[in-house]
Amino acid sequence: METQNIRFYHRGKVQEIGGSAATRTVLQYLREDAHCTGTKEGCAEGDCGACTVVVGELDARGAVQLRAVNACIQFLPTLDGKALYSVEDLRKPDGSLHPVQQALVDCHGSQCGFCTPGFVMSLWGMYLDHQPGDPPPARQQIDDVLSGNLCRCTGYRPIIDAAQAMFDLPAVPFDREALAEQLRALRRGDTFTYRCGDQAFHAPRTLAELARLRLERPEARMLAGSTDVGLWVTKQMRELPELVYIGQVAELREIREDAGWLHIGAGALLNEAYGALSARYGELAELHRRFASYPIRNAGTLGGNVANGSPIGDSMPALIVLGARIVLRCGERERDMPLEDFYLAYQKNALDRGEFVQGLRVPLPRPEQRFRTYKLSKRYDQDISAVCAAFAVTLRDGKVEQARIAFGGMAATPKRAAAAEQALAGRAWDEAAARLAMQALAHDYSPLSDMRASSAYRIAAAQNLLYRFYLETRPDGALAEDEVNVYAAVAAV
Ligand SMILES: Cc1cc2nc3c(=O)[nH]c(=O)nc-3n(C[C@H](O)[C@H](O)[C@H](O)COP(=O)(O)OP(=O)(O)OC[C@H]3O[C@@H](n4cnc5c(N)ncnc54)[C@H](O)[C@@H]3O)c2cc1C
Ligand code: FES
Ligand code: FES
Repeated sequence: METQNIRFYHRGKVQEIGGSAATRTVLQYLREDAHCTGTKEGCAEGDCGACTVVVGELDARGAVQLRAVNACIQFLPTLDGKALYSVEDLRKPDGSLHPVQQALVDCHGSQCGFCTPGFVMSLWGMYLDHQPGDPPPARQQIDDVLSGNLCRCTGYRPIIDAAQAMFDLPAVPFDREALAEQLRALRRGDTFTYRCGDQAFHAPRTLAELARLRLERPEARMLAGSTDVGLWVTKQMRELPELVYIGQVAELREIREDAGWLHIGAGALLNEAYGALSARYGELAELHRRFASYPIRNAGTLGGNVANGSPIGDSMPALIVLGARIVLRCGERERDMPLEDFYLAYQKNALDRGEFVQGLRVPLPRPEQRFRTYKLSKRYDQDISAVCAAFAVTLRDGKVEQARIAFGGMAATPKRAAAAEQALAGRAWDEAAARLAMQALAHDYSPLSDMRASSAYRIAAAQNLLYRFYLETRPDGALAEDEVNVYAAVAAV
């Protein structure tokens, strides 16, 4: 098919773009083409938040969703059918400042100002989610929303003050219905195809069409939230001649519960998927908060995390110990397998040619199961794990009926600890069993030393995390979270 123009709503009108590389970023478009230079470039890898914008789209029910994302790693054609808001859109028609901006001025929330537009857009995203009559957001919610914004000179206290003070100023409502109408007019009935030079970008609208395209074009790169793939372009300067984007396939965004399983479509955003998971498994709430940052979780998908299969990816250990199955699709054929079987070797998975990840199935909690996951990284927010651990033991009459243990950061793939699991099977869940399993871990893994951690540290940390799991779940005298978790202890002060 011939090329179609990228159409999206920006600066009060529909923009039509052709002739731009398919991997041109939204940030490059804003600064170099639209001359909206309020949006800044800091890192160009999703880490600093200087480029934060808000993107609006219609969900499956036709309601408008508005989310703060990092413009530096989003490709322009992914905006087709959506609305883009940058900091230039906030000032009111009479020239006065939006409450988000005014509160930052009033609270002295800006010095050099480089980070400020990014903070404004993250805070505006939170302002838009706030309904009249709702209480002002709690401190933790503000911290979460700002977890992807770095400021080197002002310090965060005045910015957080502004996040609270903005709700005291006269409200500026956002007309969602008007935007929904604009977006309905942009909606396509069929696959969007965009070409520029030798590059092609396809955005199918249905699962069947995605499956057909994937079979027809097995060499094309699948693209979901672009929080891994975006960096291949901005940091590794890789050429991506053909992309198949899954973000317009409503079926893949679905999350539903059925017959004892939670089904999560491969296109479900990390914030949505972790929201659904931690509503069922409260033990996942901390991992949810500490996975990347808020804007990265607003763009990235759980399917992308699992498909990418990084040995230091955070979702896999927990999903593996919970017994999750990955659902794969090739043409009309659907199959599933235990998630751990999906990873064959470093950067090698079980996908056949023309196959893709359709979703995940996660068993619902069982009362006899004890489960925890722990992420060790140098910073609390927005950091990659040195070690990520997950443990699940099923206890019957005080004995371990089944133990499942998996780690990230300990091997070339996310991997179960067969020897440690075996050491626990059938034993009473006591100190001696925990110590045996800790020793067995040294046989399960020979981790690498790298800039995040040495091999010896990783082994020692993995063993200590297993011991922590025991202390938190032992039948008698289990320690409360704030007795073992330094972050929970600080929060409780
Ligand atoms: C600043 C920053 C912080 C991050 N922090 C973390 C972190 O704390 N923990 C962590 O685990 N990760 C982290 N990441 C990595 C990344 O956010 C996750 O891996 C994310 O889940 C990737 O999802 P995506 O939708 O963006 O995938 P994409 O980048 O779109 O794709 C990733 C890979 O998966 C493939 N793919 C995507 N969808 C499918 C599908 N349905 N079928 C087959 N293949 C598919 C793509 O072809 C590509 O190879 C971070 C990234 C950034 C930029
Ligand atoms: S420029 Fe740093 S997150 Fe985009
Ligand atoms: S005001 Fe200077 S970096 Fe934040």
